Amino acid sequence: MIREHLIFRKAVPEDKPAVLAICAQIWEGDDYIPEVWDAWIADPYGQFSVVELDGKVVGLGKLTRLTPTEWWLEGLRVDPAYQGQGIGRFLHEQGVALANRLGKGVLRFATSSANHSVHRFAADTGFAHIGGYALFKGPASTSPTAFTPLPEGDLDIASRLLEGSERFQAAQRLFEDRWWTWQTLTRELLSRYAAQGQLLGWRRRGRRLSGLALVSDYPSEGRLIVHYADAPGDLLSDLARDLRHLAGERGLELVDWKVFDRPDTRAALEAAGYENTWENTLWVFERPIRPGAVDSE
Ligand SMILES: CC(C)(COP(=O)(O)OP(=O)(O)OC[C@H]1O[C@@H](n2cnc3c(N)ncnc32)[C@H](O)[C@@H]1OP(=O)(O)O)[C@@H](O)C(=O)NCCC(=O)NCCS
Repeated sequence: MIREHLIFRKAVPEDKPAVLAICAQIWEGDDYIPEVWDAWIADPYGQFSVVELDGKVVGLGKLTRLTPTEWWLEGLRVDPAYQGQGIGRFLHEQGVALANRLGKGVLRFATSSANHSVHRFAADTGFAHIGGYALFKGPASTSPTAFTPLPEGDLDIASRLLEGSERFQAAQRLFEDRWWTWQTLTRELLSRYAAQGQLLGWRRRGRRLSGLALVSDYPSEGRLIVHYADAPGDLLSDLARDLRHLAGERGLELVDWKVFDRPDTRAALEAAGYENTWENTLWVFERPIRPGAVDSE
């Protein structure tokens, strides 16, 4: 059994060539890990880990603290030459055990709806599938927009709009803060987005707030990234269309939005001229952290 020969340990700077050699073979070399290497190695809260077999690094994984009570597993990779032998499962289990040692609250991660091996070991370690995200892109267009930055003084109204949103509740109040990472949209985070001018209010007619959006501009890629956006019922489609106008107004090429996957949200974005750009969805899994638990279950 290969498992007995596996050594799980913290990654060190000397592991970089071996780790990058594995990542170069994942997703046709289009892996983000080379870009986050420095930050991951220096992380004072979580842990960037590798697994060794006979002295060779054959896999990696990262545990990240998003907030004191929300932790995230990411960067699970196994050298293609060593896949299918239980190393991915071992790394995942060690990540869960590490979260039990270092963290508290909840542990989550995201993976493709097509990644059946990961779904298997997620189920075996007590994770529940809590939602999916569909990738949509909409071309920028030129029309006036009803979005304006929401001042911090209006945070109560924004919070009320979110609290009253059935969609927000169904999405477990999660939003994509960092790229490909979901966490709870708290009042504190709303305030941070507002302070940076990234929390936008949507006032269709007159002064009443009909919706909101949390966005980032990526001018180098011509994209307006939607971290979260919401409006009641059918208004979501009008809001989505207006985000395309906002992208146009800002000189960007498109809106990039991973939307909570339900028939109504898909229909709203399609009606607003967006295209679903990935055949799969991104599934988010969650389980409670059990501080003090000695192993993964
Ligand atoms: C996903 C990945 C980490 C899995 O690593 P691995 O070492 O090959 O996985 P393992 O051998 O531990 O586990 C595979 C498990 O899934 C099962 N499995 C494999 N393919 C499957 C499929 N199509 N349907 C159902 N189960 C499947 C295997 O039987 C095994 O189950 P078992 O442990 O109950 O026997 C690896 O394929 C990888 O690095 N992929 C590229 C990067 C990636 O997708 N990372 C995940 C991001 S969350």
